[in-house]
Amino acid sequence: RQQPAIYAPPVQGDPSGYGQPQPQMFDQGLYGAYALQSQQPLSLLLKICPLIDELSLYDVVNTPGVAMDLSHISTPAKVTGFLPKDDGMKNAFTGADVVVIPAGIPRKPGMTRDDLFKINAGIVRDLIKGVAEHCPKAFVLIISNPVNSTVPIAAEVLKGAGVFDPKKLFGVTTLDVVRAETFVAAVTGAKDPSKCKIPVIGGHSGETIVPLFSQSEPKADIPEDKLNDLTYRVQFGGDEVVKAKEGAGSATLSMAFAGYRFAEKIIKAVNGESGIVETTYIYLPGVEGGDEIAKETGCDYFSVPVELGPEGAKKAHNVVSLANDYEKKLLEACYKGLKGNIEKGIEFVKNPP
Ligand code: LMR
Repeated sequence: RQQPAIYAPPVQGDPSGYGQPQPQMFDQGLYGAYALQSQQPLSLLLKICPLIDELSLYDVVNTPGVAMDLSHISTPAKVTGFLPKDDGMKNAFTGADVVVIPAGIPRKPGMTRDDLFKINAGIVRDLIKGVAEHCPKAFVLIISNPVNSTVPIAAEVLKGAGVFDPKKLFGVTTLDVVRAETFVAAVTGAKDPSKCKIPVIGGHSGETIVPLFSQSEPKADIPEDKLNDLTYRVQFGGDEVVKAKEGAGSATLSMAFAGYRFAEKIIKAVNGESGIVETTYIYLPGVEGGDEIAKETGCDYFSVPVELGPEGAKKAHNVVSLANDYEKKLLEACYKGLKGNIEKGIEFVKNPP
């Protein structure tokens, strides 16, 4: 057995995006419709990854059907789908090496990611309790919003269970990097957007997302008059999708690509491939090089380019100190917002509402 991966798809309660989960939504079929829409793209990408030999899907609805459908694809991964009944979480999580969590409700136009906290915080907390109990050594990749707060929530739950390894907990901010690559290429005319490496650091919402175009490799030639618009597009790219979907959710396809890209990098690093660096939101004091960045930013959780190795996060790269004056101003706003988001997540676990 090589590298089993677990994908814990959305465990959302209210597809409308408002209020508390309502049991009757199951009857209305709304819940299922949304869960189906958001869980499938990432599951499909993971199923066709040749590095994965077991894929377990866990959700409150639909997983047996989605797993059956995926299982007909002629790739090595063995797929199973679990529901909460019959010890589903235990069966899905036990033996997992990697757990990917995109669970939770999505935004509607006009909402911020922080508006999702009320429902998604509890969902992430409960899934992480399952991780702590059934696969405490797994690498945990958190996609669920608000990532700025759900990662600290996960860390606190794992700490409480005595199984926290900061090298193995990651907030997936890859979509911000993917968007920066795409939007910059649209301005510079580069043929293959993925060839330009752009660190996008900080957190994963609005002004806490800070693209460091000055650190692009190769150097991106961005005209001065395009810089503000480009920065705004990266910071609020998620809102573009939410608006275009007109209430039907947020990014699921580009997010699946980003989640998959990061999961694949982790698996490759764990399998011994060296030189892999990907930007991700981590608990800085627990990773080599992180203390210095935490001191400089005043934030214990921060997204920076991180070298990945067999143990997970090997080294955090301090690109913060390389920011130019324009980017330093963006960083000031980032620190302010991010500190509050982190504190909110920690409080949620320490003093439950
Ligand atoms: C995104 O960046 O697209 C996701 O975080 C979803 C969202 O709410 O914007």
